[in-house]
Amino acid sequence: MAIERCFNIDPQTARRLINETKHMTNDKSGESNFYQTKTYLFDEYAVLRMQNMLYRNVSTSDADLKHLENIAMTLLDLQATGINVVPILAYQCDNGTGYMVQPRAKGAELYDREKMNDPTYVLSRVAMLAAAPQVHYDRFVADIIAIVDAGILIDFMGKDNFFYDASCGFQFIDLNAHDDHVYGLTDMKPQGKQVAAFGGFLPCYYDIASHYRDTVTSLLASLTAAQRTALIQNNKAIFEQCKSALVHNGVEQQAINDMLSHERFIPQKQVLGLV
Ligand SMILES: Nc1ncnc2c1ncn2[C@@H]1O[C@H](COP(=O)(O)OP(=O)(O)OP(=O)(O)O)[C@@H](O)[C@H]1O
Ligand SMILES: [Mg+2]
Repeated sequence: MAIERCFNIDPQTARRLINETKHMTNDKSGESNFYQTKTYLFDEYAVLRMQNMLYRNVSTSDADLKHLENIAMTLLDLQATGINVVPILAYQCDNGTGYMVQPRAKGAELYDREKMNDPTYVLSRVAMLAAAPQVHYDRFVADIIAIVDAGILIDFMGKDNFFYDASCGFQFIDLNAHDDHVYGLTDMKPQGKQVAAFGGFLPCYYDIASHYRDTVTSLLASLTAAQRTALIQNNKAIFEQCKSALVHNGVEQQAINDMLSHERFIPQKQVLGLV
């Protein structure tokens, strides 16, 4: 085997889990054609099989997986300080195709990409998130800031890169790359608070890239008047919790207003009654 590293897991356990997936059908899959991730779920662990593992963030070569090793260490450090990241416990890679072993995230995807056309699912997610405590939102924003400031890239383009669980709150998965600044691709180091003003609204119901995938329009059209009112009210409650969390974490009101006034940010905010 070309490369194998284990961090907070013994190699036998990691190898056993990886071998078991060879007789399993994957439970989930990634969206990116490049990595073609297939996810296999165990009670405590998730095993991800992927292509092109020797590339970080598509464009940066990581032939010896030193970047990935560095990321794995940083994630464990973040976790040790109470940040809700799902770390990398082990990886194996042979010629670019490989496996990662992670703890299984608790709860469920913030919003599951496969279920966004299902009104019952969306209504129940939004009602549940509206009832989530403010401390979970505060921690979500605090964690975004800490992860970004540690140079780790958060993929905000997928709401299934975040999990929510009533006991431990929001968790971050799919943390496989540093930001471009770490790789020397830009002079601009991302600032945690600035990134949070964008990513902190992710728990709201909206399409991140509605020009590419619009699930909101058809879902709204399929709701009864009462369902629509409930959706809009609960979503507004989530929106307010996100805003409060940003303020509680020291994000300037001006930065929040600037973000919200941007027409490309939550393009559906009017139809969703958020503003
Ligand atoms: N540790 C985990 N615990 C539970 N589920 C997971 C875990 N890791 C991944 N998954 C599931 O597998 C899916 C794909 O994983 P991941 O997002 O890491 O892959 P990806 O290739 O980066 O996907 P994409 O590029 O489309 O964002 C996730 O959206 C989630 O549903
Ligand atoms: Mg993902």
